[in-house]
Amino acid sequence: MKHTKVKELLNSAQTLQEVYVKGWVRTFRNNQFIALNDGSTINNIQCVVDFENTPADTLKRITTGAAVALKGSLTESKGAGQKYEIQVRSLEILGDSDPEKFPMQPKKHTLEFLRANAHLRVRTNAFGAIMRVRSVLSFAVHQYFQEKGFVYVNTPVITGADAEGAGEMFQVTSLPLDNLPRTEEGHIDYKKDFFGKHTNLTVSGQLEGETFAMALGQIYTFGPTFRAENSNTSRHLAEFWMIEPEVAFNDLDDNMDLAEDFIQYVIKYTMDKCADDLKFLEGRLLEEEKSKPQAERSEMTLLEKLNFVLENNFKRVSYTEAIDILKNSTPNKKKKFQYIIEEWGADLQSEHERFLVEKHFKCPVILYDYPANIKAFYMRLNEDGKTVRAMDILFPGIGEIVGGSQREERYDVLVEKMKVLGIDEEELWWYLDTRRFGTAVHSGFGLGFERLVLFVTGMTNIRDVIPFPRTPGNAEF
Ligand code: 4AD
Ligand code: MG
Repeated sequence: MKHTKVKELLNSAQTLQEVYVKGWVRTFRNNQFIALNDGSTINNIQCVVDFENTPADTLKRITTGAAVALKGSLTESKGAGQKYEIQVRSLEILGDSDPEKFPMQPKKHTLEFLRANAHLRVRTNAFGAIMRVRSVLSFAVHQYFQEKGFVYVNTPVITGADAEGAGEMFQVTSLPLDNLPRTEEGHIDYKKDFFGKHTNLTVSGQLEGETFAMALGQIYTFGPTFRAENSNTSRHLAEFWMIEPEVAFNDLDDNMDLAEDFIQYVIKYTMDKCADDLKFLEGRLLEEEKSKPQAERSEMTLLEKLNFVLENNFKRVSYTEAIDILKNSTPNKKKKFQYIIEEWGADLQSEHERFLVEKHFKCPVILYDYPANIKAFYMRLNEDGKTVRAMDILFPGIGEIVGGSQREERYDVLVEKMKVLGIDEEELWWYLDTRRFGTAVHSGFGLGFERLVLFVTGMTNIRDVIPFPRTPGNAEF
């Protein structure tokens, strides 16, 4: 007999004579009631054990965390809180769980404790919900682009290029680190390395993605991305997943439209498919908020926040306008910001981004036309000669969630920019070819997938929305 998923049983149209389920015991009350979960839904199914006719030895082995298989009938529940329960006729312990040692006790654990047990935390309600939401969100990403005729491109994980020019790369090498081959000048001889050159893990698939957009028209990537930035924040991972669409003939306005439509679509899709999980996460957040001082509590519940993003256009604001707002803002004047905004040209920190979104505009914001010298080399220079057609999307509670731009499509301007920044033309000969053969206006952006999952789940630390986080000093599991 094949076993049935708990989700299916809870949604059953009728009671059933013969059911078979497998799952893990969440709790076992009064030697009688098992709350069983199999991961198919946040909801447990109550299984009523006939304790008088079950051997004492078996009853003892029904402990939190144990894997069990049971047969019985699906009946209407007499208890409150659930429509159905299972009257158990036979029960088999598949895998014991020592109740003294199992770390995931049915009580509240701190997120820090759960992070240290990332292999087991997924057995909790919250992490089960987060990981199901994450899965549905990633499917929604594909669904959106596939419906629109975008081609999914797998850009390389190992590359010689530093797309962002920020130098935050993990090197990939098979050279013996304790005995490195040297050139005559004493430099490391990368010609002897596996690829015959210096290589690293990708920080972005954009540059390779652009070459595909210049043939296939509309493409997107969705893959792991690596950054060796030593920023121990609740928004940064050393390994994260990024979605990067790139579209030929799109200018910056089209790019903003695409990003906004895309984000709204995937949130809507996930709200439709994950109602139970999101309701649970909303409740979790409300509980958490209670321990915060009134002033720091969110004005909206999780679902209200998600609906707000669906129902309101993102506010489009130029960098120059944003600097004016920030310069005249109370926290700037009262020196409450860690980095005081003195003048045009300043790079915006997360505190500034969050002020704009959370305090000033109170909605998602798209900032555009940034100073050229604080952005990457590939962005389209504006006619003013000092700003580029960049855009960052800022979200409440998150800060930057998207970074993108219209690309510099003019060969001469691009080469000139690379010279100024000291980017090796020979290294990027293939990228420059896109500008030499049939160049055209094009645009794209990168969405940090975990930051999106943070927003949708209402979690506050990025380490809690990826299965096994990689951060400075942490690569356990
Ligand atoms: O703004 P970024 O650096 O842009 C790019 O990489 C461009 N090549 C994208 C493009 O135009 N195709 O990164 C894009 C997004 C950020 O807005 C942020 O959401 C996320 O990637 N991100 C990170 N997420 C988690 N941990 C990190 N260390 C991140 N760095 C960037
Ligand atoms: Mg950025």
